[in-house]
Amino acid sequence: MDSSDSKATLSFTNGKPSVELPVYKGTIGPDVVDIRKLYAQTGMFTYDPGFLSTGSCSSSITFINGEKGELLYRGYPIEQLAAKKDFLDVCYLLLNGELPNAEESKQFHHLVSEHTMVHEQMQYFLRGFRRDAHPMAVLTGLVGALSAFYHDSTDIHNAEHRHIAAIRMIAKMPTLVAMAYKYGIGQPYMYPRNDLSYAGNFLRMMFGNPCEDYKVNPVFEKALDRIFILHADHEQNASASTVRLCGSSGTNPFAAIAAGVACLWGPAHGGANEACLNMLRRIQADGGIAKLGEFIAKVKDKNSGVRLMGFGHRVYKNFDPRAKIMQATAAEVLAEMGHKKDPLFDLAQALAKIALEDDYFVQRKLYPNVDFYSGIVEHAIGIPSNLFTGIFALARTVGWVAQLNEMIADPEYHIGRPRQLYTGHARRDVA
Ligand code: CMC
Repeated sequence: MDSSDSKATLSFTNGKPSVELPVYKGTIGPDVVDIRKLYAQTGMFTYDPGFLSTGSCSSSITFINGEKGELLYRGYPIEQLAAKKDFLDVCYLLLNGELPNAEESKQFHHLVSEHTMVHEQMQYFLRGFRRDAHPMAVLTGLVGALSAFYHDSTDIHNAEHRHIAAIRMIAKMPTLVAMAYKYGIGQPYMYPRNDLSYAGNFLRMMFGNPCEDYKVNPVFEKALDRIFILHADHEQNASASTVRLCGSSGTNPFAAIAAGVACLWGPAHGGANEACLNMLRRIQADGGIAKLGEFIAKVKDKNSGVRLMGFGHRVYKNFDPRAKIMQATAAEVLAEMGHKKDPLFDLAQALAKIALEDDYFVQRKLYPNVDFYSGIVEHAIGIPSNLFTGIFALARTVGWVAQLNEMIADPEYHIGRPRQLYTGHARRDVA
């Protein structure tokens, strides 16, 4: 963080003396005004619900330029990483700051593959859930429960503990997501196979069964790996901020990541992919492309409470680069399936076209986001929509871990403790 030559001056109309505030420059992106001493100097807080103008930390992991539609992991454009690297190399990059060389990559792939199994007792814990439990409810519980199984990696202030907890969570998330799925459909869990790729192993744990061999489809494997890369991190979004805030109390890494899983579940965040596919299904059932005009009219009517799921983003105000990559991946997967005429994909394309030309969406800079297409890809692969957010959580685990570890290693880190503008009763007495 470099101080810039400029300073900000905050002046008041009520006669209070003005204060000078330092301004810092990042490598790229907007400068920030340092308000940490504001309360001590003025007795005032700032007010910014939803963090619309507030930087909560300094970070060197991920950068988004919302106007340009640019996403960088450690400086590398997402398009190049998705085209040239696999998910585990991207995990290495996010965790360590640099891409691995060939030997480091081999060792990292091996290390993760050695930790894919979960404690056998986990399946008894899982059995306590109803079979119809939402996979995100199950995952929130399972990830939190990891802290009860791996006592040797729960000290967040110990770098070795943080490292091993990171590897464990990245390695075990596919196993846990697949277990949640198999439990729901009443099939036996499949133990991981460490000779398969990260995505290939996940596909086998999802769709294989003990009675026959499972052959990984390379097109699905690549598509899934790409979904993982695109969802790996997204700077200070709601769930990453939740993980940081939760971890700032010194809780163990598994508990902090479980908080991220819980936050991701919401439909305004990771739950949007499931909500988007459900929306497409509803439109299809109500008449499909012929009735799209009526649906768009409902979305534009503020009283209807209907939003176009998979559209809009707090940061991207031009396009979501992940959506472009996912749109191409959707076409590849559908071609592999021989489903060039998938009705939901056709519907999505038609919906996107109408919305992109409609003034309501153009004026508000609302564009398809990654979830608009990732659900279509996952649906084509055979993944049920209630598992979409779980797959997002699987992929985002590395981002959460990288954000958490960065925060703990930051000498400026404090427990997160926002202040408030109190609007309730002043002190009063009980009669
Ligand atoms: N459909 C219809 N109108 C919308 C939509 C939408 N999807 N998104 C925003 N708007 C309107 C909103 O009503 C408001 O209009 P007005 O100015 O007339 O009141 C304006 O656009 C600004 O919206 P906002 O809610 O203030 O914007 P935000 O930055 O707080 O919300 C968002 C961002 C992603 C929560 C929102 O766009 C949304 O709910 N989208 C649908 C859910 C979705 O797809 N979420 C996935 C995000 S990408 C995955 C991830 O990174 O988690």
